[in-house]
Amino acid sequence: MELIQPVRGTADLLPEAKARQNQVIETALSAAARYGFQDMATPIFEFTDVFSRPLGASSDVVSKETYSFEDRGGTSLTLRPEGTASVMRAILSGGLTQTLPQRLFYAGPMFRYERPQKGRMRQFHQIGAELIGPMGGLADAEIICLGARILRDLGVLDSCVLHLNTLGDDESRAAYREALVSYLEGFKADLSQDSQRRLSENPLRILDSKDAGDKQIVENAPRLSEFLNESSQAHFDTVCAALDAAGISWIHDPLLVRGLDYYSHTAFEFITDSLGAQGTVLGGGRYDGLAETLGGPRLPAVGFAAGIERLALLIEAPQLPTPDVILVSAEPDADIICFQLAETLRSAGISTDMPLSGNMGKKLKRANKLGVRFAAIIGGDELQAKTVQLRDMRDGDQQQVPQDSLVTIIASSLSEMS
Ligand code: HAM
Repeated sequence: MELIQPVRGTADLLPEAKARQNQVIETALSAAARYGFQDMATPIFEFTDVFSRPLGASSDVVSKETYSFEDRGGTSLTLRPEGTASVMRAILSGGLTQTLPQRLFYAGPMFRYERPQKGRMRQFHQIGAELIGPMGGLADAEIICLGARILRDLGVLDSCVLHLNTLGDDESRAAYREALVSYLEGFKADLSQDSQRRLSENPLRILDSKDAGDKQIVENAPRLSEFLNESSQAHFDTVCAALDAAGISWIHDPLLVRGLDYYSHTAFEFITDSLGAQGTVLGGGRYDGLAETLGGPRLPAVGFAAGIERLALLIEAPQLPTPDVILVSAEPDADIICFQLAETLRSAGISTDMPLSGNMGKKLKRANKLGVRFAAIIGGDELQAKTVQLRDMRDGDQQQVPQDSLVTIIASSLSEMS
């Protein structure tokens, strides 16, 4: 029969890959905890409106990338393409708006029907942090500092550049949008098809078009920074000053607009050139209008998410855990006592492997391969004498020890070592 393969754009996390992902999540969680963020999770699917309303019908994610389906009851559901809308929905439905600010961290799978390539999957994983409540620029800076700290703790910050921009408030953006559209109208025929469509739907997205012709046109387009009202400029100035004070280096990228429609004021991305085309490892911004699109009150908020697969490609491979002890039964009669001793060792917190088949030679080979510290061998003589032949695999040293002192002897050798 034909072998069934994984679905295109998905990947199994075999132990080495899973260890990398765990390392990313644990490092991020520990950094987030130092900023007072608490871990949470939302369901993997939501009512389709949770994403279609805040992310914007014209965004690529909603218009072409969601996995949406009707369940057996005829309800339209969507596998989450990102976590921010879900977290906000959870805050609103859980009544947490009464206790602001909320600092929330999450990690988990996301789903987007994109063209798979290195660093771009259809099921991928994100870590994310959302700070809900504060409206000042210091909140944006705190979120960016947390992002930078996670990257630093993972050892990848030095290969990333922080791109920072402001999209201003609604008033500033409306004024800019008008000026941008009137400039781009003059080049309409020369714009790529995608950008021609965006001209009426979401002209700001044309700024980060990858099309070479669009790029040339955009080069001389008016800049958003010229249209910022006083309060938007002040907000951005605070973010920049706080980042400078925290020693975070950044560059102003006036063309950074991000792919989701819910942003206002700050937008940022940490970008590396070590991953090819998919170089954005962590991105986010402020999204003060999102809660309202879900039927809630106006709730200032800022956050980011990072692609775990992309970070996992950049970090050094973590060590896979190896057992401390291997229990080798040298003959069938010793199987049960070995099995029992293995359980006793595990109860004492000592990680223990017991090969369940194979001859002595094979079992000792396995001990070498696993890199265990001790092999505990029981054959006919040991059965009779109620002992164990304990071999230190580092120096080959062997001793006969009573079965009922095995745990104590191994535990004290291991604690000496650590
Ligand atoms: P995003 O820029 O769409 O933002 O995704 C954040 C990160 O997830 C990207 O920078 C990238 O590292 C990773 N990522 C996105 N799509 C894929 C994919 N198909 N395969 C692998 N990795 C991917 C958001 O999702 C927002 N929710 C961020 C945010 C949080 N804004 C405010 N709060």
